[in-house]
Amino acid sequence: MENQRERVHVLVLTYPAQGHINPLLQFAKRLASKRVKATLATTHYTVKSIHATTVGVEPISDGFDEGGFKQAPSVKAYLESFKTVGSRTLAEVILKYKDSESPVNCIVYDSLLTWALDVARQFGIYGAAMMTNSASVCSMYWQINHGLLTLPVNQETVPLTLPGLPSLASSDLPSFLAQPASNPAYLAAILEQFGSLNKNDWVLCNSFEELEKEVFKSRSLLLRAMLGLWPLVMIGPLVPSAYLDQQIAGDSAYGANIWEPTGDRCMRWLATKPEKSVIYVSFGSMADIAANQVDEIARGLKASEKPFLWVVKENENKLPVEFVNSVGETGLVVRWCNQFEVLAHQAVGCFITHCGWNSILEGLSLGVAVVAVPQFSDQPTNAKFVEEVWEVGVRAKKNKAGIVTGEELNKCVNEVMDGERSQKIKRNVSKWREFAKKAVSAGGSSDKNIDEFVVRLLKADG
Ligand code: UDX
Repeated sequence: MENQRERVHVLVLTYPAQGHINPLLQFAKRLASKRVKATLATTHYTVKSIHATTVGVEPISDGFDEGGFKQAPSVKAYLESFKTVGSRTLAEVILKYKDSESPVNCIVYDSLLTWALDVARQFGIYGAAMMTNSASVCSMYWQINHGLLTLPVNQETVPLTLPGLPSLASSDLPSFLAQPASNPAYLAAILEQFGSLNKNDWVLCNSFEELEKEVFKSRSLLLRAMLGLWPLVMIGPLVPSAYLDQQIAGDSAYGANIWEPTGDRCMRWLATKPEKSVIYVSFGSMADIAANQVDEIARGLKASEKPFLWVVKENENKLPVEFVNSVGETGLVVRWCNQFEVLAHQAVGCFITHCGWNSILEGLSLGVAVVAVPQFSDQPTNAKFVEEVWEVGVRAKKNKAGIVTGEELNKCVNEVMDGERSQKIKRNVSKWREFAKKAVSAGGSSDKNIDEFVVRLLKADG
């Protein structure tokens, strides 16, 4: 069976956004490290951002090859175009390998792209959905899709008590559920993925069993029993293996950057700072931060008197001039960096984050304490877990205008880095780092799940 491995070929299809490409590419790398042939399919617009030596890369089209999503007139139009043009061009990739030594046996697709399962069926090959949110968030969407929870989830229906989840106030809910009208096209796409889940051969999830034990248990005991199969397979955290005992060669970064990272400068700057002294600030790839919020973050960082590294993306021109002039050596402001490498640096002691699921998994895997400043989507729910379930950080409170003030931010930073609560938080981050590492190391829960996935493909091939 060992010699057959190279003949098993998994085509991994991403949604073309940074927070989706990273985990899917990482999964492809994990497969390649198990000597399975893995090819990443991503759009023409994003393909140039991939640098992976062990994984093949194939471009497909979403119908907007020059500018991607930003070229589309609306979210709805984009998703429709991706479905039509993407299905056709994905099929062309499968046909390209059809008579080769390694025809495609399985498509693992970002769960938002439900049409990829139809392509898999058209060719009679396996299909697996990959969830890029936490299992807890997925379970909420799934319950809505199955009529167990009704929209809008509002002040009258909260706090919500759902199987395996802590009691949730409306400020803890994914924004698409708390305010369904805020982005109906995304909400529809998110809910649609849960309609056909049980038609997949696997439903993979970028999380690990120990991290979401409660929902994982409730899923098997209650939901699965009551409502049929939801064969969720936890295979995460899908982060670079740099922090493992047995690293995958060359795997210290994801190998995908839609924006050009400020490379060595960050590392050189971090090297001048004492251990666990630096605040790293990033709001991921999608959130648009209002100018008055940028202002307050600047005030909070200044007030903390601690060194900071702040990823501002295109918010550079919102920075207050006096702040920029007074930063000096205390702070480094960059447009984009290699976040995983930065978080892995010993100088980093705190992560002010929007709580995107990848950022959360990265912080947990590397043992960095969190100040949660959620913006939208699944981020409020992730923040709830950070503070109350895993106890690896605190959530900053918003004022009446919906802004986290500089004073509040400074208070939270002190709480996780120096205050009374910091000792407990530090113990917890170390604990979760070990659990995360164990899950993906040889024989760990997620590693075993990936092995079982590969073995099933091998059996089918043999
Ligand atoms: C969003 C959602 O919020 C997330 O929960 C969902 O699962 C995917 O879509 P995003 O807002 O981009 O994602 O945040 P996050 O999930 O944290 O992903 C951002 C990725 O970009 C991370 O892997 C992070 O390491 C990377 N990053 C960020 C960099 O490499 N450099 C940076 O400067 C900032």
